[in-house]
Amino acid sequence: MLAIIGGSGLTTLSNLDVSHREVVRTPYGEPSGAIVFGEICGQPAMFLPRHGYGHTIPPHMVNYRANIWALHHHRATGIISVASVGGIRADLAPGDVVLPHQIIDYTWGRQATFFDGGATPVTHIDFTEPYDGLLRARIAAAATAVGVLIKDDAVYAATQGPRLETAAEIDRLERDGAHVVGMTGMPEAVLAREIGLPYAAINVVANHAAGRGSSAHGIHFESLEHVLQEAMGRVRSVIERLVGSQEAVQPLGMSV
Ligand code: HPA
Repeated sequence: MLAIIGGSGLTTLSNLDVSHREVVRTPYGEPSGAIVFGEICGQPAMFLPRHGYGHTIPPHMVNYRANIWALHHHRATGIISVASVGGIRADLAPGDVVLPHQIIDYTWGRQATFFDGGATPVTHIDFTEPYDGLLRARIAAAATAVGVLIKDDAVYAATQGPRLETAAEIDRLERDGAHVVGMTGMPEAVLAREIGLPYAAINVVANHAAGRGSSAHGIHFESLEHVLQEAMGRVRSVIERLVGSQEAVQPLGMSV
């Protein structure tokens, strides 16, 4: 059963036919909220809102370990992470949907591993390809099937937040090779890898990153809210196709 973690702009999954909710206790504390179970087009799926149901948990306070552990505990077979981002690359504008393929992690002070000593031997997980290739291919195929343009291949920069970046920081991220910037992609992705769950992200560009395009002199989310909502509608239809046609989708041999 696929799990969907929703971020800003996707705090509920309206196309999920809900059967029940479950509050999960984990060795790492409380997840962001109850996991919602149900069906999308007759196929089972589960949903967890990353920032809580009232959207009150900021990126640096999300209990990523509890979230990933809870989804794994409930036998998720993979995680699709939906998150809004700022667009750095010139061709990325508000409303664009992006399928990132790489990550640069600038976060600090977060609980970023399940392997933190105690009884577990020291483990250095391979993270060369941070996203699952097969899941990415399935997302791309679902997007094509429903006619949603998804911009493949982008390097995701994970910043600490909750403040937005300065223009100079975005210049630096660009020099580093980053194309989009968000605050929640790490340590979510690495924790999924550590626990053995295929993980891929769908990013929605909510704004030009600081100092770029329409954000040349500041970022004003309010004026872009409708763009984000419309784009999340397209993401919902991709997820609907992906989950609803799980049996029909053939592996494309891109798994990492
Ligand atoms: N920076 C960081 N995170 C974000 C942004 C941004 O510009 N937009 C949406 N999430």
